[in-house]
Amino acid sequence: MSDLSLPDAAAAAAAGARPGAVPRHVAVVMDGNGRWARQRYMPRFFGHKQGVDALVRAVNTFADRGVEYLTVFAFSSENWKRPSEEVSGLMSLVLVAVSKYLAKMAGDGVRIRIIGDRSAVSDKLRQAWEHAEELTRDNHRITLAVAFNYGGRWDVVQACRQAVAQALPPAQIDEAWLSQHMALSFAPDPDLFIRTGGEMRMSNFLLWQAAYSELFFTECLWPDFGQAEIDAALEAYAQRDRRFGTLPAHPVVPSGT
Ligand code: IPE
Ligand code: IPE
Ligand code: MG
Repeated sequence: MSDLSLPDAAAAAAAGARPGAVPRHVAVVMDGNGRWARQRYMPRFFGHKQGVDALVRAVNTFADRGVEYLTVFAFSSENWKRPSEEVSGLMSLVLVAVSKYLAKMAGDGVRIRIIGDRSAVSDKLRQAWEHAEELTRDNHRITLAVAFNYGGRWDVVQACRQAVAQALPPAQIDEAWLSQHMALSFAPDPDLFIRTGGEMRMSNFLLWQAAYSELFFTECLWPDFGQAEIDAALEAYAQRDRRFGTLPAHPVVPSGT
C-alpha cells in the first residue's frame, strides 16, 4: 500500500509508477482488421482500409504524446500465405494509402521509413516506398517505420548475411554489430510493444529488438484503436518497473516487519 502522507510523485514512485514516463519508441502489431469488418458484415478489405485511417490518426496521437519512433507491423513474411485476393488487395491498398496520405503526413512532420524485404514486392510499390522516404527524410516530429514483408527471423538472417558478405571475423560479430545491421538500426529498441486484436503472441515481429520491451495486449481491434486506447497503453507503460535484469528500484517491504 502506498503511504498517503508522501507527496504524489514520491507515493507513485514508491508504488512502482514512473509518472510522466513516455516511451521513446512504440512498436505495434496492428491486428484485428478482418474481425472488425466481419462484425459489420463487410469484406475483410474494408477493415484494412479502416486500418490505414486508424494508423494515420495514431501517428499524430503518439507524436503529440512525445513518442519519437512508432514502428507498425503492416504485412508479415507469413501474410503471403493468405488468399491471393487479400494479398493483392493489401498491396494495392498501400499504393492508395501513399497517394491519399503522404502529403498530409509529410506536412505533419512525419519521417517515414519502410523496413522489411523489398525484393518480393512490385517495382511500383518499391518506388512508392522510396518516394515516401525521400520526401519525408528531413522531418523530425516522429519517425514512422512501416514493417512490410517483415519478419523478425528474416531480419536476423539478413544481418548475418551482411556479416558473411563482408567476411567478418567471428570475434567481430557481437550484439552491437548485429543491431547496427538490422532493419531498425536507426532507432533505439522499442520501449513498449503493443498488440491489438486480443492475440497474445508476437507473430515474428521485432524478435531481436523487443528483448526488453514492455508488452501490452488489448482486445481492441486495430481500426478502433484511438486516443483513449493509446492513452491507456501509455498509462500502463508508465506503471511498469523496467529492470533490465537489475534489482527493483523500490523493493516491496513485507508489512509487519
Ligand atoms: C491485421 O489484421 C492486418 C494484417 C495482417 C495485414 P488481420 O487481417 O490479421 O485481421 P484479423 O486478425 O483477421 O481480424
Ligand atoms: C500479425 O498479424 C501481422 C500483422 C499485423 C501485419 P497476423 O494476423 O498475421 O498474426 P497471426 O497469424 O494471428 O499470428
Ligand atoms: Mg490477424
